Amino acid sequence: MARLTRFDDGLLLRGRSETTYPLDHSRWRGDDGSPLSYDDRPGITCDDVDATERSIWRYRRALPVTFEREISLGEGMTPLVTNEVDGEMLKFKLEYCNPTGSFKDRGLSTMITALADAGQREALEDSSGNGGSSFAAYAAAAVIGSRVLVPEGTSPGKILQTRAHGAEIQIVPGTRDDCSAEALRQAEERAYASHNWHPMFIQGIKTQAYEIWDDLGPTAPDTIVLVAGSGSQVIGHDLAWHELERAGAIDPVPRLVMAQPASASPLVDAFAKGADDVGPVVPAATMAEGTAIGNPVRGREVLAALRRCNGLAARRVRTPSPQPRGRWLAAASTPSRRAPTHTRDIAHCATQASSTAPAPPFSCSPVRVTSPPPGWWRCSADERRRSADAEGALLPCRPRRRPALPVGSTPPRRGRHPAH
Ligand SMILES: Cc1ncc(COP(=O)(O)O)c(C=O)c1O
Repeated sequence: MARLTRFDDGLLLRGRSETTYPLDHSRWRGDDGSPLSYDDRPGITCDDVDATERSIWRYRRALPVTFEREISLGEGMTPLVTNEVDGEMLKFKLEYCNPTGSFKDRGLSTMITALADAGQREALEDSSGNGGSSFAAYAAAAVIGSRVLVPEGTSPGKILQTRAHGAEIQIVPGTRDDCSAEALRQAEERAYASHNWHPMFIQGIKTQAYEIWDDLGPTAPDTIVLVAGSGSQVIGHDLAWHELERAGAIDPVPRLVMAQPASASPLVDAFAKGADDVGPVVPAATMAEGTAIGNPVRGREVLAALRRCNGLAARRVRTPSPQPRGRWLAAASTPSRRAPTHTRDIAHCATQASSTAPAPPFSCSPVRVTSPPPGWWRCSADERRRSADAEGALLPCRPRRRPALPVGSTPPRRGRHPAH
């Protein structure tokens, strides 16, 4: 099949051993078994944003490759709403407003676009739920047959959603890592298209950062809290903010805070030890099931990204007597740097928000800000408590000129979104 992609001159895929490969969208890892990345991008400025496009594709000029056919379901353009948490004004990026209910849609849109461009007609993926569901939806949009391997214990709702998008489901006994091992075994017979491995997935995830920059002015916030399992958001943000810095669009890059639950925190543990790579762990059960990754594929790259962004890492600590908010351990990027107190709170929010307790699955990235933007007002402590109790997660503040949101309703959305 004719290749429709336009590659930038000299762009290569790079493995860990600095071995390079010619661009090929069907290639998902290096010959040495390491994950692949594209060469660094120069970044974009406001002039490069396609303001007529209401999806992640408005930042297409930040991608390493241009495609003739973009597989999009209107992902991205998610609300950035303000709320007060213990006296701090935070902004929350409501990523559950993406078409299939998670931030994964950003990366699956770009990854499936690349696979369709390579002429792939069927593909195999492994996921603990949200990634699989998103994969199935975008594969269906590209008319690519999909098989999704999920670990036992995956929420029935996520399996149902994935099946509804037309994927063949296989439930694998054991942990999330056992599921990945089975996918690697099957990859010998069927095209493997794992979002954790494919380099084009991260390219889509980085649009989350571009969008925050765009929404804020454009400017960069001080600090961004991200929940990590494999750590795709940490790598995506590091890429995007450094691209923006390279293009002269921001200075300095924001600090990244990575949050993991106590039962599955290999990245936080490695970061706290100052290690360059992650020691695999067997994750215990967690309500934030999407984060239960014991051996992240790009662990080494996540740690490097966090250090490049002057990062912090936090995890919830199990205590013998239950405390209302748990306790947090924060690991700073240098021994002398103490974690600011607000880190504990925003990291708490991030992990809570990543749990599957509320429906639809909720993922958010709170951003510290100093004052609320015009048109938004602070919820009273009482309102906030009521919302949090009812939803298990924070609701957005209500805009001044709009009626109150009924508890359980979806917050306002901007832009073009299909009905789901
Ligand atoms: C809602 C949500 N948040 C966070 C994560 C963790 O993402 P990653 O494994 O890319 O770090 C997942 C993964 O499935 C998820 O579904």
